Amino acid sequence: MARHGQASTERETPKKKITGEGLKRLYRLFRFIRPQKSVFILGLIFLLLSSVTTLIFPMLMGDLLDSATNGTLEKINRIGFILLGIFVANSIFSYFRIYTFAVVTQKTLALLRQTTYNHLIRLPMVFFSSRRVGELNSRISADIALLQETFTNTLAQFIRQVITIVGGITLLTIISYKLTLFMLAIVPVVAIIARIFGTFIRKLSKISQDKVAESNTIVEETLQAITNVKAFANEAFEILRYKKKTDEVIEIGLKGAKWRGLFVSFIFLAMFGSIAGVVWYGVYLVNQGDSMTSGDLFKFILYTVFIAGSISGMADLYSQIQKAIGATENLMDILEEDTEPFEQTIEALKQPECCKGKVEFAGVSFNYPTRKDVRVLKNISFTLKKGEQVALVGPSGAGKSTITSLLFRFYDPTDGQIFIDNRNIKEYNLTDLRSNMAIVPQEVLLFGGTIRENIEYGKPGASEQEIIEAARKANAMEFITNFPEGLDTIVGERGVQLSGGQRQRIAIARAILKDPAILILDEATSSLDSESERLVQDALQQLMKGRTSIVIAHRLSTIHNADKIIVIDKGEVKEMGSHEKLLEIENGIYKNLSELQLELMG
Ligand SMILES: Nc1ncnc2c1ncn2[C@@H]1O[C@H](COP(=O)(O)OP(=O)(O)OP(=O)(O)O)[C@@H](O)[C@H]1O
Ligand SMILES: [Mg+2]
Repeated sequence: MARHGQASTERETPKKKITGEGLKRLYRLFRFIRPQKSVFILGLIFLLLSSVTTLIFPMLMGDLLDSATNGTLEKINRIGFILLGIFVANSIFSYFRIYTFAVVTQKTLALLRQTTYNHLIRLPMVFFSSRRVGELNSRISADIALLQETFTNTLAQFIRQVITIVGGITLLTIISYKLTLFMLAIVPVVAIIARIFGTFIRKLSKISQDKVAESNTIVEETLQAITNVKAFANEAFEILRYKKKTDEVIEIGLKGAKWRGLFVSFIFLAMFGSIAGVVWYGVYLVNQGDSMTSGDLFKFILYTVFIAGSISGMADLYSQIQKAIGATENLMDILEEDTEPFEQTIEALKQPECCKGKVEFAGVSFNYPTRKDVRVLKNISFTLKKGEQVALVGPSGAGKSTITSLLFRFYDPTDGQIFIDNRNIKEYNLTDLRSNMAIVPQEVLLFGGTIRENIEYGKPGASEQEIIEAARKANAMEFITNFPEGLDTIVGERGVQLSGGQRQRIAIARAILKDPAILILDEATSSLDSESERLVQDALQQLMKGRTSIVIAHRLSTIHNADKIIVIDKGEVKEMGSHEKLLEIENGIYKNLSELQLELMG
């Protein structure tokens, strides 16, 4: 199993300050809310109404208190009823606020998930070969869960608290500007300290999120390759690896908790301290003959409690929002990666149709983008006429599979060009290009569904008859009918419930169904016994008729009658010609290999 320890630090974006750039990215998130704009505004109105009704409550309480000494019974009852009315209204507004926000959130998140997946699946192979799939997966689900919390809860809370603070301060100023000024002298100090704390806590929580993602990656990777783990008896090793990562999570989590604890204690202290201070100053002012009534003082204290509560809650929300910015940045990183050019820009209007099947490599050199210093292919040139069959042979790691990846445009050549039907393959629409090619890959991975679904993947919407026909041609029908469920047999996750040879024949059936102009068989018969191989070989021979076919084979006996054999070694074309021609080369690679294999067989 591959281990690339620092893959996740590589994934880490360089520290982003909350600048215009960061905010712009957050703003881009709002384009996902846009379709829900009217519901969102409705939610905001409910939010506003519920916040305002909450703000009226202290006012009425103060008036009620004052009417104890100088009010009529009628007035006392009236205020009581209004209070009751306010509470009822508030609960109704709150209900609808929560519901409308949930509607906006659910729909927005679904859109965000769909967009992210949509984008992700169209990213070029380079992206996937430099990232770990498990990490991407957990990252996306964790980040989106975080945004869900932000949208349903944090955003509403935030707006609510801003309203409370602004509205509260306005009302306070009306009651007593002196007292308000006194209170405001305390609040900014608290706010500044909260901000410094918040930034620090944000950093810690980002590290902790990353650590959790790393530990999830281990679980996912090992479960995916569980056979390997067991076969190599590496359970203890993996347990240790996982333990180490999860222990790191404890450490960083506890460090975060310490700071959060300090933060909360500080806010608590500041809150009660300022309330006591305000009461003291208010009593002082009344005592000195200020026009405030005791009801006013009561109002003032209630508002101060509201405001203080909002400010302390605000600090918590502040760090929550910062986390959300972190999550947004992660998602935006993915969304800003360029996808494969499905819509070609060159000659986008009158794109040539693909493909009849002439293939030409002209001086193609290639390095994998992830390993820039290693030349995998060097100056490869060859031409295949339409309908010709060519075999690629050569030692393991020579670059044979890479040649087929270039033909599919999983990657583009570093130097040189590839032509199909005399046109550079970059000129074709990518979907068009790929739908005219089929590959039976070296490692067949099936999807978790049924055999039928896996074959149908070659041509979505194919009829039952076509599917059976394809399976029959691939010599797969026999083993399929032996399963009690036939075509509806579940293949298990990634096809684990089938043998290698069975999987391969399903992949062949899939290719047959696709009916491509260009066919690539990468070791297509490698996991078959001689009898099945003969059957499949026949099927393939049928399949290759009239199509340009590239066959990669280690066993040379299977490619004797190819029109052309290309010997690749260390990324270079070493020999090229028919079987007979190549056997004539004195001390040739092909001749030597051929003799060696005959000896082994004989
Ligand atoms: N995704 C990749 N990123 C970086 N290097 C790669 C990648 N895939 C293959 N390589 C390297 O490119 C070289 C050629 O690999 P390729 O898979 O084309 O060999 P091959 O001829 O098909 O071998 P085999 O017969 O074993 O299948 C190898 O050295 C391999 O390590
Ligand atoms: Mg290969």
